[in-house]
Amino acid sequence: MRVGVLTGGGDCPGLNAVIRSVVRKGVQEYGFDFVGLRDGWLGALQNVVVPLDIPSVRGILPRGGTILGSSRTNPFKHENGVRRIQDTLAAHHIDALVVIGGEDTLGAAAELSRQGIRLVGVPKTIDNDVPGTDYTFGFNTAVGIATEAIDRLHTTAESHMRTLVVEVMGRHSGWIALHAGVAGGANVILVPERPFDIDQVCAWVQSRFKFNYAPIVVAAEGAVPKEGRMVLKDRSLDEYGHVRLSGIGEWLAQEISQRTGTDARTTVLGHIQRGGTPSAFDRWLATRFGLHAVDAVKEGDFGRMVALHGTRIVRVPIPDAETKTRVVDASLYDEFEVFFG
Ligand code: F6P
Repeated sequence: MRVGVLTGGGDCPGLNAVIRSVVRKGVQEYGFDFVGLRDGWLGALQNVVVPLDIPSVRGILPRGGTILGSSRTNPFKHENGVRRIQDTLAAHHIDALVVIGGEDTLGAAAELSRQGIRLVGVPKTIDNDVPGTDYTFGFNTAVGIATEAIDRLHTTAESHMRTLVVEVMGRHSGWIALHAGVAGGANVILVPERPFDIDQVCAWVQSRFKFNYAPIVVAAEGAVPKEGRMVLKDRSLDEYGHVRLSGIGEWLAQEISQRTGTDARTTVLGHIQRGGTPSAFDRWLATRFGLHAVDAVKEGDFGRMVALHGTRIVRVPIPDAETKTRVVDASLYDEFEVFFG
């Protein structure tokens, strides 16, 4: 059997660990051979296929990024997208695909699967917002990076007795903000799921100063004030209709400064959260996902996604474009309110 592998959407640490594990088990245990499709669905549309064998996956386990490249290409936004993908698969005698992606790439995979393409999904993203799995790989690494940044910001904030706002990724879900904020001992954590009251944020900041501590405010890029809108970087949309975010951190620092008469600055962590070497947990999870994905291919269990439930890897239907994003639920967020202010 010949299996194609692709990585789509925003990259995250651990993608290479999945590729390695799929190829290692597929070749060694099942006698499959593999090819890589470059840059997610783009390579499938444009017939850009590269060899993928055991020598080409040696040494990639600890490497961030993806050796196959990635893009936010939506095959349904391209003329004859499905037919062109089928042509590429036929031209290279590819029997099945392992699709490693987040909500968008997997949403396209779900539809392609309905249209007859044999594929298995693997959930990735630093945002941890793919429905059907307790965790995605990439998230743990991003939380580690954000937590380290918060630890560092505490000491400089204290030296200058000013508020430091940290903007982290997370368009629709505040998983990174919540986990890193709690781990880093932030005084305010703002997530997209819970529109915030700027007066309350300022009150928390001021109460922190009263105890002679400098406030740290962690905000997900998709956090929104109750009376306001998401802050956009610009108005451009990607092929899945997403806007580019960033700016809420800067807005918060300005408002805090003006309303409290104290100094406030912002750090935007941005793509630093996605780059570099994966944590041990993400290598472990990505490796397990890869092993189970190739088993699903072997068993012909297509249209399914590997997922983590507790400590078990299971198979679930691939979430389609209609499935709701996995967000932070209100009761979980409320658990930590005791630390605010
Ligand atoms: O992968 C998802 C994500 O991390 C979002 O949180 C963020 O908005 C987006 O990627 C930004 O990615 P890019 O700059 O690659 O479009």
